[in-house]
Amino acid sequence: MIDDVHNSLSKLTTLEEAVALSREANKENHRRYINPELVSMMGLIGFDKRFVKAEGTILWDEDGNEYLDFLGGYGALNLGHNHPDIEAAVSSVSGLPNLLQASLNPLAGALARNLAFLTPGDLQYSFFGNSGAEAVEGALKLARAATGRAGILSCIGSFHGKTLGALSVTGRDKYRHPFEPLLPGVSFVPYGDISALESALAAGDIAAFIVEPIQGEGGIIVAPEGYLTEARKLCTAAGTALIIDEIQTGFGRTGKFFACEHEGVTPDIMCISKSFGGGVMPLSAYIASAEIWKRAYGSMEKAMLHTSTFGGNTRAAAAGLTALQIICRDNLPGQAAEKGKYLLEKLLLLKESYPLIRDIRGRGLMIGLEIAHPEEGMLNKLTGGAIGRMAEEYAGAMVAGELLNRHRIVTAYTLNNPSVIRLEPPLNISCEQIDRLLKALEDILSRNKGLGGMALSGAKTALKSLFKQ
Ligand SMILES: Cc1ncc(COP(=O)(O)O)c(C=O)c1O
Repeated sequence: MIDDVHNSLSKLTTLEEAVALSREANKENHRRYINPELVSMMGLIGFDKRFVKAEGTILWDEDGNEYLDFLGGYGALNLGHNHPDIEAAVSSVSGLPNLLQASLNPLAGALARNLAFLTPGDLQYSFFGNSGAEAVEGALKLARAATGRAGILSCIGSFHGKTLGALSVTGRDKYRHPFEPLLPGVSFVPYGDISALESALAAGDIAAFIVEPIQGEGGIIVAPEGYLTEARKLCTAAGTALIIDEIQTGFGRTGKFFACEHEGVTPDIMCISKSFGGGVMPLSAYIASAEIWKRAYGSMEKAMLHTSTFGGNTRAAAAGLTALQIICRDNLPGQAAEKGKYLLEKLLLLKESYPLIRDIRGRGLMIGLEIAHPEEGMLNKLTGGAIGRMAEEYAGAMVAGELLNRHRIVTAYTLNNPSVIRLEPPLNISCEQIDRLLKALEDILSRNKGLGGMALSGAKTALKSLFKQ
């Protein structure tokens, strides 16, 4: 047996070899061992480049070309790539036990203390996990255990993650159908619709209403003014826990530390992740009011009801502690507010000149650019409707592909709404870098009157694959 293990050693790829893999060899590994369909999809729009270095807002590919990152890890890179202070923090604790369940981790305790201080109102008890979905799972379980109710209410178009519980409250059929039946007792209301929420809560059987202050994957949809305030009142009256999912909106992204602060609303439970780990470590949490937490877990026999092996480990907590320091020190929420305003204003000007932009919306540095569809154009007819179908699924991807391949700017579309390109750069992006994006967009828009041209010039293979479907 030992001999077999030793024999295996020579066949394994080493870390050094993995770091040095060529673009093709890397694609082949993904094709054979991870997800061949994803490799094909990424290849269609040139999203299969091999990046070898990342620093702040800049990425470098294997040929030494420089790219500007306007995707920002879907909100996980508010501090930029590989922030030196986060890297230093993580190495500084390398001698401490990283995982020791038989003790109380001091870094996790300190991090929870800081969170209680920074989050609004009376939020106090934190539970640490490793991903956004895990924070959502914990929040849903807490709400059920605290209220003794089964019902959970969410919003159409929402995105809360893809584990079974988080998916159950995610409002997009495409992701849900193959896995049904999902959690029982979950229902959906239109986002921003207060009277629908009021009716749904009326029976008094809802444990939690989970909501994003801005629907990120739904297409950067900002909640109507006053929505969260009203939702807060309705939840309190119905004895329902209000869970605000700040996983994408948190840590300065929208111009406040947390987006619910724009309305001065405090949830019963808040979910956070993404930039919490400083863009380096996986880290998430839910933080709850003492009142709700004690109802669920307030006795010793309940102390171990909800746990996670890696949750709150030393290195992740070190990254979290340092990320909070940097966000405050560099006033990242203020930077997002100021630069987001600049970007939004310039984008609105572009929209006036180019009908290919259907809408521009957002808050702080969380901005969505919605691409208009070519509708019933001649090209659409000539291609048997393929351009139209393609535009529906790939409109954002095509523009993102042009930005990447022609202008070396990384963006992507929102998961539930592929016509929307998300602009979520690191919050310390410079105005010159914002101008570079604006110039690139103007170039694309002025050269492409409609998506058809772009489809033909840049994504012929996408068309071919659609015909095959
Ligand atoms: C609002 C929101 N909630 C939850 C999640 C899920 O996070 P994760 O992918 O880390 O599980 C996301 C991810 O994009 C998100 O945007």
